Amino acid sequence: MYTLNALSEEDVKRKTFSGLRIGMVLHIEAKTAVLALKIQEAGGEVYLAASNPLSTQDDVVQVLKKHLTAVWAKRGESTSEYYRGIRNILSAKPDFVIDDGADCITLSHKEGVDSIKGACEETTTGITRIRNLEAKMGLRYPIIAVNDAFTKHLFDNRFGSGQSVLDGLSRATNILIAGKNVVVVGYGWVGKGVALRLKGMGAKVAVSEVDPIKAIEAYMDGFDVRRLSDALRKAEIVITTTGNTKVISEKHFRIMRDGVLLANAGHFNVEIDVDKLEKVCTAKTTLRPNVVEYEYCNKKIYLLAEGRLVNLVAADGHPIEVMDMSFAGQFSALRYLVKGVGKIKPQLLPFPEELDRLIATTFLTSHGIKIDSLTPEQRRYTQSY
Ligand code: NAI
Repeated sequence: MYTLNALSEEDVKRKTFSGLRIGMVLHIEAKTAVLALKIQEAGGEVYLAASNPLSTQDDVVQVLKKHLTAVWAKRGESTSEYYRGIRNILSAKPDFVIDDGADCITLSHKEGVDSIKGACEETTTGITRIRNLEAKMGLRYPIIAVNDAFTKHLFDNRFGSGQSVLDGLSRATNILIAGKNVVVVGYGWVGKGVALRLKGMGAKVAVSEVDPIKAIEAYMDGFDVRRLSDALRKAEIVITTTGNTKVISEKHFRIMRDGVLLANAGHFNVEIDVDKLEKVCTAKTTLRPNVVEYEYCNKKIYLLAEGRLVNLVAADGHPIEVMDMSFAGQFSALRYLVKGVGKIKPQLLPFPEELDRLIATTFLTSHGIKIDSLTPEQRRYTQSY
């Protein structure tokens, strides 16, 4: 992870995070391990818990347990074990938190945890929750919206999800994507990436949206834009990417065709109403890891990865090059907060533009890509009126 390494080099030398307890709640796989170890190398005392009960890779946990101060996670943990992990993080009285989905940040506010001096949030759903929390009760400490860095959502959400969601789909089912009728629900950053890569693999892709602007974007990108109920009738694969709840509900199960595959790429397992599917089905069979067959109204519906993020449960999440940028963002946001203690008001902060540009420049350099720069005359011209 060249960008993360380059950006953290000085901090490792100077032990920037020395004496600080850093609570991390992230999907636990190999790239996360690199970030956690890097923060530790820079002097931090790292406590790690999972940001999803099913995305944890146990072999990574085994290694990290030998190196970090504490790790609480195991693949397939129950909801209570999952929340116990997050509570353990808060009980460790962290000085800073690195979160993904904002479960740790919201719980720290509900319980009035007073050790935290700042936090960074990784994903769109987490930012939405923090924005709502800030509007309703105010924030106790500054939080940086790492997801909103250009070097994060443009590449992680779009290209990372585009590739890894297809990887999850393929590993879980080994299905041919070419020629399939696929519906992508939501055309935000994740939806755009998933739809683009499906199209590239030869799928016939329909998009369902609720935002008229995004719908036009999908239409002009060449997708078949339809209401979900219309698109579902011929869909062979349905992928939700909305960050919203009950996007696929019982009324949709009724009109789906026999043999449809359902997968979710949004942060929480609420997009497909799995509880309802469990109640209304007449039979349920686990066919292979991450594939469950439900019988409903004389047809079969296949649910992948229990409706949780298919790219992290059935595959390894985003490719390393993408996580390099995302985690360079998390690392630099943490350093920004550490240096700004006492100077930054409790609020949701945009990702600092200068850090975004530094990450982009470092990423390009590490990939051997050279770009041009403005001449003084061009700079003056762009600033004139
Ligand atoms: P976004 O806000 O850019 O896009 C979400 C889109 O869904 C919006 O265009 C919205 O209008 C649409 N939408 C909302 N409700 C809908 C409904 N009922 N029907 C149809 N469309 C609907 O968000 P982004 O960045 O694309 O993230 C989406 C979700 O994916 C979030 O939960 C985010 O946290 C998660 N995520 C997952 C990743 C993964 O590795 N699987 C990576 C990055 C983000």
